[in-house]
Amino acid sequence: MDYIDLFLIHWPVSSKSGIHEYPIKKKDFLPMDFKSVWAAMEECQKLGLTKSIGVSNFSCKKLADVLATAQIPPAVNQVEVNPCWQQRKLRDFCKRNGVFVVGYSPLGSIGTFYGTNRVMESQVLKEIAKAKGKTVAQVALRWGCEQGIGVVVKIYNKERMKQNLEIFDWSLSDDDCRKISKIPQSRACLGKDYTSHYGPYKTIEELWDEEL
Ligand SMILES: NC(=O)c1ccc[n+]([C@@H]2O[C@H](COP(=O)([O-])OP(=O)(O)OC[C@H]3O[C@@H](n4cnc5c(N)ncnc54)[C@H](OP(=O)(O)O)[C@@H]3O)[C@@H](O)[C@H]2O)c1
Repeated sequence: MDYIDLFLIHWPVSSKSGIHEYPIKKKDFLPMDFKSVWAAMEECQKLGLTKSIGVSNFSCKKLADVLATAQIPPAVNQVEVNPCWQQRKLRDFCKRNGVFVVGYSPLGSIGTFYGTNRVMESQVLKEIAKAKGKTVAQVALRWGCEQGIGVVVKIYNKERMKQNLEIFDWSLSDDDCRKISKIPQSRACLGKDYTSHYGPYKTIEELWDEEL
């Protein structure tokens, strides 16, 4: 490829130079120098290697740190968003700063080591889906779209892929949205792999700047 459309900083962490191992070993984490890393991202865009640049798994505070010195503000912050982790504070911050939110794990990433069945097993979503003749997945994805965010769902099954695309000719009612807004909130993807007792983030509270 001559260029990519969107280049993201995957997590707000750096590791020791020259070591390309994943998962990153606890002793190899380094604090991310947001200013110089973002300047390098900007250089990639200026060189035409990528159309847009952005971040992922950045809290309001870390995004503010990038915005403080950025010449080109991040186009995107890709973070976990679903009816069970709605990210209202972060979405509001991103909106005020012109950063488009893309939601990963929109179905809760059921079946993965970091996932949860809370979305697909949500009683609230099940009731809405039943009343509308839709599936829980469709209700969750439609909710994401109605929030004005991007939604990236992973799917290998052709039938379910088709189902996931059939969310654009109907909508959720105000009552549905009110019920969804009351679903108890918790993050599924805690990012523990990115914490280390050596630092820079010793706890998930530090990683997410208390946005848990
Ligand atoms: N930036 C980051 O740090 C980060 C972190 C996590 C994920 N992501 C990205 O976000 C994308 C999606 O997130 P995710 O994979 O964690 O979670 P997800 O999209 O919430 O869940 C994916 C799972 O849902 C199943 N599924 C999809 N549609 C379905 C339907 N209609 N009914 C029932 N099950 C359905 C899929 O299985 P089948 O394929 O078998 O249907 C798959 O097992 C990933 O591809 C990844 O690139 C980014």
